[in-house]
Parts: sequence; structure tokens; C-alpha cells
Amino acid sequence: MLLCAQIYFEKNSMVKSEAVYRQASQVIPGGVSANIKYFPPFPIVMKKGYGSKLVDMDDNEYIDYSLCYGALVTGHGHKRIMQATADFLHQSGTAIFGTPHELEAVMAEKLAQLYPAIDMVRFTNSGSEAIQLAIRLAIAYTGKEKIGKFEGHYHGGLNHMLVSINPDHEEAGDAHRPHRIPESKGIPKHELDQTLVLPFNDLESVETILREHKDDLAAVILEPVQGGFIPATPAFMKGLRELTEELNIVLIFDEVKTGFRVHLGGAQRVFHVKPDITTLGKVLGGGYPIGAVGGKKDIMMLSAPNEESDVFATGSKSRKKDEVVFHSGTYNGHPIALAAGLETIHMLEEDGVMNDIARQTNKLRDQLEKLYATYDVPMQTIGMGSIFNIVLTDKPIHNYRDMWQSNTALRQKIDQALLQLGIFSKPLNRYSMSLAHSEADINRTVAAHEKALQRVKG
Ligand SMILES: Cc1ncc(COP(=O)(O)O)c(C=O)c1O
Repeated sequence: MLLCAQIYFEKNSMVKSEAVYRQASQVIPGGVSANIKYFPPFPIVMKKGYGSKLVDMDDNEYIDYSLCYGALVTGHGHKRIMQATADFLHQSGTAIFGTPHELEAVMAEKLAQLYPAIDMVRFTNSGSEAIQLAIRLAIAYTGKEKIGKFEGHYHGGLNHMLVSINPDHEEAGDAHRPHRIPESKGIPKHELDQTLVLPFNDLESVETILREHKDDLAAVILEPVQGGFIPATPAFMKGLRELTEELNIVLIFDEVKTGFRVHLGGAQRVFHVKPDITTLGKVLGGGYPIGAVGGKKDIMMLSAPNEESDVFATGSKSRKKDEVVFHSGTYNGHPIALAAGLETIHMLEEDGVMNDIARQTNKLRDQLEKLYATYDVPMQTIGMGSIFNIVLTDKPIHNYRDMWQSNTALRQKIDQALLQLGIFSKPLNRYSMSLAHSEADINRTVAAHEKALQRVKG
């Protein structure tokens, strides 16, 4: 079944991309600034973006479903975002003041209004930094030191969060009591020992583990929608909230992916569950580096400086460092990121906009599911709001281990073929949509998938 004439983009050579990559590899380990950006034989080097499109060094055009790993919900170079950042620079005469400024309070108020579990906010430069502060606050608040995280969940590059994100079959251990598997070299054992690995969407096992460790556990952190596409069940969410409350464990929702994508007010608005701390990033910066930690006032206030008890306080006589949670950073609360982020949120708040992106996303998901069915390839799309993933199995998916049943070898081949056909996603990664993705983009994408299926099956 050929849905349309040849409307996908067939690619030309990638000689310039390869040359830049080779040059970079001489001076940058692996030629990339973030390991996730590498894929074989070499990552494609881009030089331009507009709307839903990316253009590489060799002038090949792609419909972008990575969108900087979900950050660019308005697409590339939206004129309102460009204007907001240009206006800020023009009016302020500088990129950053290095002092408090108005946009910090404006954004913090906006987040408190949108996210039910946020009373107060601190800004960081990345999602990873937000997680670091969230965990430090939880440890300070409870006086306990261990952190529970779920198998398959990603929380950035902190030492003790780089655990059991993508463990192998053989080493992962009992499904009800997963092993703790480090995901990086160079992490001290004593830091790994602070992390407990929990099975997602398995309330009974989680309850057993939490009760056993209740005196050590400062916090449980989770992606409410694992990897941005596998949602917690409502019963699991409710049960986890009740348990953590009862056991005096801080519940952290890592909404770096889900914030502004599954709902303007994040997954907590979808599940109607209030965590104690929320972390945000990606969309919040409108394309610029940012992270945020928000939460209950009594927890957040632990990071407030006061003249007598801060590491930066002058005079050492009355300094009591152990009374304040350290949080600082040269670029924290960067006004350009906040200007871009606020304009992004204003656009998303306009009537019907969130529904429109979700509707477009569902349209693409439906058409892809129908297409794969005609080619007899077991497949389902899983996701929420404007993010989803293509999973090549018809078995139900509720956690990381269920994904072992999906045909990743075939998905890998399809993704490589799609890159040749002008569809950009990091192979095996999820798809994110933007305000800029049009009907024509959807048609092109479905046609490219059809061509890719013919290629890999043929
Ligand atoms: C759920 C989640 N938490 C934390 C992070 C880390 O954010 P950043 O890459 O901005 O440090 C990510 C990044 O992908 C994420 O998806």
C-alpha cells in the first residue's frame, strides 16, 4: 500500500557531516558534547533549523522529531521566541546581570500557578542540576540519606542517579527487587550504595522495599511517565503517594520530560497527585539551558540564605553552614532562558494550543499504527500529550522490562532508513511534536515510514 507519491525527502551524500564529525573527534572525545548525541556510523551534523525542520551540513532536510530531546515545543526558531530574547537583550543591554532580576519572580509565580505541588521555585542551568538540588533538599529535610529510584528511569548525570537505567537482561536480577547496576565508570561505590532500585508500576514490591528501608530513605524519585512514554498507572501513583507520606519519604516527580508536554501543569495535573518536590527543564527554557526545582514551602525554604548561616556569608564567627542547603550557580536564573521560557508558556496557554499539539500527535500515532498493521509488523505507539514512542510489540508495556519484548533490532533498521528518508529522531528514541509540525509533515512522515518498512522488509 503506497499511501502517497514520493513525498519524503530522499537524502544525498553526507560528506560534509562526516568531515565535521571526524574533525571534532580529534579534539572532542567521540566527537560529541553529550554521549546521547552519538549514533553510528556518525552523528549527522546540523547547520540550520526552522519550524519542524533541520538542515544538515550537506543541505539534506529532515522533519525533526527529536526537537532537542523534547525541549523545542514551539519548533525551531519561532519568531515569538526569537523576538522575546532579542527584546530582552535590547532592553537590558547585557545578556545577564549577575544579580536578581524581574523575570525570576515572574517565572516562579507562573510555575506556582500551573503546578499544584509548587509553592516556591529555585532555578538551575539544567535538569541534572535540578535533580541534584531536589535530592539535597530531601536529605536535609528528612535527615535520611538514601534515595529510591525506579529501574529504567533517567534523572540526568548525577553519580548516584546513573544506576539501572538500561540494565542487561542477565544482570538486572529479580523483577520485584531489581539489582543496582551502575551505568558509568568512575562512580564511587559509596555513592552507588546510597541508591535503592525499585520496580515501576509494581506497588506491592515497592511497598515491601520502602517499609524495609523507611529509616534510611530520604526520597523516592520517578519519571511519572517513564522515558516520557510509559505512564504510571493511577493506582500505582496513588499508592506511592500514600506510602511515601506515611513513611516520611519525600516524593520527587522528575517532570523534566513531562512538564508542559503531557499537560501545562505536568503529569501531576494528569494524575491528580501532588509530589513534595517537582523538577523541570527542557521546555521550560524555550531552547535555552535551564532547570527548576519547585516544591512545598517548608522544604524549599531550607535553601534560603541568611546572613549568619550561609557558606558565602562574610565573617566566620557566627557562620553555621549546616543550617542551610547550598544552592548557587553563576548562570542560575539566566534571563534569556527565562524570557524564552515565559514566551513559550504564553504560547502554550493560548486557547486550544495544548489540545492542538496533542491532536496532531494522536493523528500521527493513529496513522503509523494503521500503516504498520498493513505491513503485519506488530507495533503500538505509547505516550501522552505531545510525546510518544514506537514500540515494536503488541504485548502490553508497563515498565522497563516489558520493553525487552519489543523488536529493537528492527526498530533500529527502520530508524536508520528513516534518517535516509529525511525523518530525524535519535535511533530508538521517542518522538516529540511541536506547534510547527503540520498536516504535510505528518503525511510525509507516514510515507517515509512506509518506504522504510518496504526497505527493511525487502
Ligand atoms: C526525566 C529527566 N530528568 C533529568 C534530565 C536531565 O536534564 P538535563 O539533560 O537538562 O541535565 C533529563 C534529560 O533528558 C530527563 O529526561
